[in-house]
Amino acid sequence: MIELQNIRKGFGEKEILKGVSTIMEPGKVNLIIGSSGSGKTVMMKCIVGLMNVDSGKVLYDNQDFTAMEEKEKKTIRQEIGMLFQGSALFDSMTVEQNVMFPLDMFGTGTLKEKKARVEECLERVQLKEAAKKFPAEISGGMKKRVGIARAIVLNPKYLFCDEPNSGLDPQTSLLIDKLITELTKEYNITTVINTHDMNTVMESGDHIVYMYQGQKQWEGSNKDIVFSKDQKLNDFIFASEFLREAKEMRQLEMFKDGKWREQLKKEQGKEGK
Ligand SMILES: Nc1ncnc2c1ncn2[C@@H]1O[C@H](COP(=O)(O)OP(=O)(O)O)[C@@H](O)[C@H]1O
Ligand SMILES: [Mg+2]
Repeated sequence: MIELQNIRKGFGEKEILKGVSTIMEPGKVNLIIGSSGSGKTVMMKCIVGLMNVDSGKVLYDNQDFTAMEEKEKKTIRQEIGMLFQGSALFDSMTVEQNVMFPLDMFGTGTLKEKKARVEECLERVQLKEAAKKFPAEISGGMKKRVGIARAIVLNPKYLFCDEPNSGLDPQTSLLIDKLITELTKEYNITTVINTHDMNTVMESGDHIVYMYQGQKQWEGSNKDIVFSKDQKLNDFIFASEFLREAKEMRQLEMFKDGKWREQLKKEQGKEGK
């Protein structure tokens, strides 16, 4: 579990995060959404410690990460897997060497065990056949999958993905989302994804934090989002006429299922606060 307590971050005069609090639970795909420039990447960097917060706390399983000495932070970092924007693979290394890299840096065990782990991860992302290829020889979707294999090779408790679907076609995006969701549930990982991909929001959003002008404007699940009356969120999510109609249809469907009652109650409870 990751908990943010009132985190603030600015550059010079400009405040990017104006006191954000939330809880991200294991086994859930936690999304940070918001328009470009809303501070998603800054927030992720603050959570993993690539940037220091100005104030507030980041807790990993109730331990205050922000107050830790460098040595303690290192132990947490070894439990973190990251999928960087654009995959960030090493071009001069083969697929399997890329996945081996974190094991060589931080892993324990014999070479044979490490090789077996690499093979296991490549199999998990269906890339065994591409093991000997170089990044330049494989497609964008395959590169993402190598990035995912590399991110999970050390069995992370926490997985961070910054815009995992950027540059991918919608179908490949869905496959990547599905893979990340499956791994999250399978290994009970606390997964955090920055995205502005609406498919991801609807398909994978167990817990969604909508960022607007440095603050958490709304939070809930992909089921709650259909009933949200938050104008800013709706303008952002259901930006086109088509999506607005789709939203109404989804509401109707849930109305028929009788599921709307609990969702509506939840949303009204929020507005009452
Ligand atoms: N290292 C930095 N120095 C100064 N400003 C930064 C830095 N990193 C990000 N910013 C600013 O913070 C804002 C949020 O950026 P970012 O987190 O990248 O947005 P998003 O990922 O939501 O598109 C932008 O206005 C950006 O210019
Ligand atoms: Mg970004």
